[in-house]
Amino acid sequence: DLSADLFGQTLTSPLLNASGVHCQTKEELNDLANTSNLGAMVTKSATLQAREGNPNPRYYDLENGSINSMGLPNLGYDFYLDYVLQEQTKPTILSVAALSAADAITLLKDLQASDYQGPTELNLSCPNIVGEPQLAYDFEATDRVLSEVFSFYTKPLGVKLPPYFDLVHFDKIAAVLNKYPLTHVNTINSIGNGLWVDVDQEQVVTKAKGGFGGLGGTMVLPTALANVRALRQRLNDSIKVLGTGGVTSGADIFAHILCGADLVSVGTQVMKEGLGTYDRLAEELKAIMAEKGYQSLADFRGKLKEL
Ligand code: DHB
Repeated sequence: DLSADLFGQTLTSPLLNASGVHCQTKEELNDLANTSNLGAMVTKSATLQAREGNPNPRYYDLENGSINSMGLPNLGYDFYLDYVLQEQTKPTILSVAALSAADAITLLKDLQASDYQGPTELNLSCPNIVGEPQLAYDFEATDRVLSEVFSFYTKPLGVKLPPYFDLVHFDKIAAVLNKYPLTHVNTINSIGNGLWVDVDQEQVVTKAKGGFGGLGGTMVLPTALANVRALRQRLNDSIKVLGTGGVTSGADIFAHILCGADLVSVGTQVMKEGLGTYDRLAEELKAIMAEKGYQSLADFRGKLKEL
């Protein structure tokens, strides 16, 4: 039994798409709604104004993952809000991103005033906007934005975090997040600003930012697991942890859940393998659970053993 919970809604599976993957257009969102073993879906991060994103090539497939410099291409906040209000047929998290703190406030004030009551995720970690830092690497700025947001916002809201690499940074971000009534954190976003080198061509593989881009896929799995584990150990129980990063097998999902993930997202592998990935992963996860004698995800969630 793979059933899971999204803030009170029962899901048939703990699997989500990673935001950005196959969730930009109405057709893509409808495809996700019709994808079996995808428990819930997440929209492409919406900005106040529609964006074309960065120039192509902006996604490149690597043997052990992917690198991208998409630049938040999206159809704009109004489109995704209409989608979740009018077209939604599967539990959906509305992902929103802001190019500035002021934009975040404007967008969330509008959302607060709207009819939408469902879950939202504020992306504090896009690595690909030229000249804009990943906000959640600035703990004080993150605190200021959340403080202002929660002065008026009363609907379910979580945040998408970038990966952290230092135990003190885990302490610092958790101390900020624990001050607010967040529904969840989604960890990790891409590892920002890697660089792939095509040795034959002696050149980079994506256009924007001189080839620097966000990393995903197998190569980020240990970083993702560390972030899920470290945040689960530090955050209030009321804040769910959505694990994202490096999943290519049922065993990887099992590992995310052992580290404390409530739900698990898959991005790069879906780019490589298509939406059928979720059926394969669900079967692999069920097989591992059967072999180990586990009936439900709660039997092993967060129960990673230390030496
Ligand atoms: C983009 C946004 C993200 O949050 C991310 O992790 C990777 C890419 C983008 O659209 O550029």
